[in-house]
Amino acid sequence: MNAEAKVASADLTIMAGANPARAARPLPRDLPGILCGRYQIERLLGVGGMGAVYRARDLLREQFGEPQPWVALKTLSEDFAEYPDASALLYSEFALTARLSHRNLVRFYSFEVDPACQRAFITMELLKGNTLDHVLHQYPSGLPWSETQRLSVSLLEALRYAHDQGVLHGDLKPSNLMLGDDDIRLFDFGLGQAREGFLKGLPRLARSRFAAWTPRYAAPELLDGATLNAAADVYAVACMIYELCSGQHPFRRQSAKQAQAMELPLTAPADLPRALWPALRAALEFDPAKRSSLPDLLRAFRAQRPSRSLLTRLLRLPA
Ligand SMILES: Nc1ncnc2c1ncn2[C@@H]1O[C@H](COP(=O)(O)OP(=O)(O)O)[C@@H](O)[C@H]1O
Ligand SMILES: [Mg+2]
Repeated sequence: MNAEAKVASADLTIMAGANPARAARPLPRDLPGILCGRYQIERLLGVGGMGAVYRARDLLREQFGEPQPWVALKTLSEDFAEYPDASALLYSEFALTARLSHRNLVRFYSFEVDPACQRAFITMELLKGNTLDHVLHQYPSGLPWSETQRLSVSLLEALRYAHDQGVLHGDLKPSNLMLGDDDIRLFDFGLGQAREGFLKGLPRLARSRFAAWTPRYAAPELLDGATLNAAADVYAVACMIYELCSGQHPFRRQSAKQAQAMELPLTAPADLPRALWPALRAALEFDPAKRSSLPDLLRAFRAQRPSRSLLTRLLRLPA
């Protein structure tokens, strides 16, 4: 897509695409149609590495006249549900997220266990829109710079807020971000953890069996077995911002370890204002000690206004 086409598509119209995960599928055999006598499952919204998320109707709230009784309901997929501490893992996601309140983070409502089938689940706000991986399919050269800048600032602000509250995400990637009418929401803290010294008392689960970092977005130290840290979230968020800007993964969809071994060059996305490249490049450093901090990255993106050429065109100023 050339620059003209990008500006023309600045309203980011998202085509109603065929998201394969959303196709009608029968419910898993062991999942009843109504959980806790209250949540009526309507359809599958999506599946990830660990869970399945359904659209459900809260019959209790509906009974009291709630005009919008829908919730998103997350359970662990059948494979994971069999682990003895699977429910504790889901509770950990709930506990981490439920204490966060930010316009760019999903809001969690409750953690429950169905007494009959013993299945644990989380209810949360039903997000509208499309996940960012889906959006990027429709914008293979990336989003217009003004949109990239605005969404990057929202994402970085949400992440900084979570870090300030002591919560690390651990699985930042386009399929864990929903782009709604006018902003983004970050969700899926399933691999999240409390920062050292925060949320004392919350059980720290041994995640070695579950911690399937997403290789393309995992900082190299995580792939080497280090525990999750704030710098690893910075690496992942920088990969996503690079993709927002260019439509391409910074290291040709390779893991950081493979990129290092192949000595892949890192080039600046064409649409990124030059002044921002040092900050983004530093956020993609393989060495966590050299990687830029989240506040530094946020400061750099906040300071950068849409490029003059775009402003010129939008405001019809003389070039
Ligand atoms: N609150 C929500 N509202 C609407 N759809 C959601 C919501 N949460 C998750 N989804 C959909 O379900 C998919 C899987 O959810 P996610 O929490 O990422 O599960 P996993 O932990 O298995 O990756 C997402 O990619 C998204 O399409
Ligand atoms: Mg996910």
